[in-house]
Amino acid sequence: MTWTVTYEIARYKPGEPPRTDTFKVEIEPHRTVLDGIEMIWAYQDRTLTFRHACHHASCGSCAFVVNGVEVLPCIVEIQSVVENGGTLRCEPLYSFPVVSDLVVDMGPFFEKMRMMEMPIITPTGPLPQQPADDYNRFENCIECGMCMSACPVVATDPNYLGPAPLAAAHRIIQRPDIPEETKQRIWELVDSDNGLWRCHVAMECTAVCPSDVDPGGKIMDLRRLATANRIRKLLGLKPKLPVGVEDA
Ligand code: SF4
Ligand code: FES
Repeated sequence: MTWTVTYEIARYKPGEPPRTDTFKVEIEPHRTVLDGIEMIWAYQDRTLTFRHACHHASCGSCAFVVNGVEVLPCIVEIQSVVENGGTLRCEPLYSFPVVSDLVVDMGPFFEKMRMMEMPIITPTGPLPQQPADDYNRFENCIECGMCMSACPVVATDPNYLGPAPLAAAHRIIQRPDIPEETKQRIWELVDSDNGLWRCHVAMECTAVCPSDVDPGGKIMDLRRLATANRIRKLLGLKPKLPVGVEDA
């Protein structure tokens, strides 16, 4: 059994005005949103640009917005989004420069992750003296950028570090193998005007994250730490350094 669904796709090519193109697709409802995009590319429009690699939620490269919500289209079944005859409105991730159609420039985002010393290259297995759950937590991030797209603060201020980089900072300051100077440099970024205080606690980042990173929760953890340090300072006590950083 196949359904007929409509894809409304935001199109943009450098030097041309943006437009929306509409495609009808005959497809089984259990197939993914990305399957439909690939069918359009294969049979209707070879100029359609989109990105994908793994097709199973590992690489993070396919992310875009469907009917207003950030998704990994490689794992989202069409029947979970629309009914037979329905319309899928596909747009590139918000708050990223668009390169072409559904492809955005991840460069500024990756640069923020690099400022947080991410990605970290780790051996397989848990780090010494670290529970396996902790080890797994941040390496869950597939750097898809969906949290950045969903964040209302990123939308208004490109200088805000944003959810994934702050979650990366939360991770990195706990690692025993990161030099203390590096942690201090990162902490200064985290506790700066462009850092954790800009968050409005919308928690859209955590809602869309496909990998259980819970970036909003990590930002709240960082806030608790920063607040405690400010109170200690007011009381004339020595600030406690971030979790995992040894007192000097
Ligand atoms: S924190 Fe989640 S939503 Fe954000 S980049 Fe990482 S995996 Fe994607
Ligand atoms: S194609 Fe790799 S996450 Fe979707």
